[in-house]
Amino acid sequence: MEGEYSPGLENVIAASTKISYLDTENGKILVRGYDLVELAQKVSYADASYLLINEKLPTEAERSSFTSMLKNAYALPGELYSVLGSMPRGTSVMDALRTGISFLAGYEDAGMLHDSSRRANVEKGVRILAKAPAIAANAYRALNGLPFVKPKGSLDYLDNFLWMIYGTEPDAKSREIFDTILTCYIEHEMPNSTFAARVISSTFSDIYGAVVGAAASLEGPLHGGANEMAIRMLLEIQKLGGASVTEEYVMGKLARKEKIMGFGHRVWMDRQDPRARLLEGYIPNVVANRPDGRELYAIYEAVAKVLLREKKIYSNVDYPTSLLLYLLGIPIPLYTPVFFCSRISGLVAHVAEQHENNRLFRPRVIYEGPGNLHP
Ligand code: CMC
Repeated sequence: MEGEYSPGLENVIAASTKISYLDTENGKILVRGYDLVELAQKVSYADASYLLINEKLPTEAERSSFTSMLKNAYALPGELYSVLGSMPRGTSVMDALRTGISFLAGYEDAGMLHDSSRRANVEKGVRILAKAPAIAANAYRALNGLPFVKPKGSLDYLDNFLWMIYGTEPDAKSREIFDTILTCYIEHEMPNSTFAARVISSTFSDIYGAVVGAAASLEGPLHGGANEMAIRMLLEIQKLGGASVTEEYVMGKLARKEKIMGFGHRVWMDRQDPRARLLEGYIPNVVANRPDGRELYAIYEAVAKVLLREKKIYSNVDYPTSLLLYLLGIPIPLYTPVFFCSRISGLVAHVAEQHENNRLFRPRVIYEGPGNLHP
């Protein structure tokens, strides 16, 4: 059989796209032609979301209509709160989130659910985008015996998200950093989760299924699950003795060939992920937010130093995000869901693009099993 095998599909071109590109030569992530880092610094997450979904930055009027569309779609059906309230306590928030998104598919009219036009995908995608934070925040609440905080239609996407997490209105600094994190996470070319969504959509399966499949992929520790694991590692080192034991801790892990979460990347392997560089700059601004902030920051820097020295491996977006979300007081089980909620904008763009120019994904294998067996 013709065709070359590349384990993990490394360097394989899987799609032709107008959405985003990792321009590693220039150290840039292009999103609809813009540098993602510049977007994160200059526009809100909601505007970046509009850009991904509608292929252009919004005008004032478009921004206001997009904000209203989101606000009008925040509310969750009452039955979904019952589902969240009845999930086993050990359920992860990501599992609850994908269950919730899957549940919502049933509220679409059958014709709309299976309509794969761009207009229908965008309409359904905006509904998923608007509701996901309420599912994530309230799943966390239900799983931890806390009262539900339902979405507030008077708040914009960012304030509503933080309101449901904190139960109070956020301060300006937390708002700015959270918004920057969301934009950094919004889109990243062809990671495993986006690929999963495109593979699922290529059968003309509906957008809910594609988003749910992407959630299952993103939850894994080699992908979005890394941000939760990174902060747990920093807290573990702190418990073991702090910055002074970091060298020994990391060297031990490397000797056992264990991965350090929040480091390395299939595409950014030999240089730092530009999102990580941007986000790292915010840590000193909020390091005093928590009593153990400075100690964790010292550990954070010590881990990075050993990784660079020993393996020439740089941090990825999940490393600074893990510490920033901790310093902002976001509960750890929400870190990966926060990543995923942001990424929904990118996924909507990819599903719409796949449906518009579809060819079924159907690769082949190198067969290494037996032949000529008879029952
Ligand atoms: N810690 C220690 N060694 C590492 C790490 C790491 N985090 N990442 C890569 N390496 C080493 C690996 O051991 C191997 O070394 P050697 O050649 O000496 O055996 C080499 O680098 C190549 O690693 P690989 O696992 O074959 O590379 P990959 O392209 O398959 O992996 C990765 C990419 C992201 C899965 C990997 O870097 C990793 O497991 N990182 C930790 C998890 C993580 O932070 N994931 C988040 C990724 S970025 C944002 C996101 O998508 O969520």
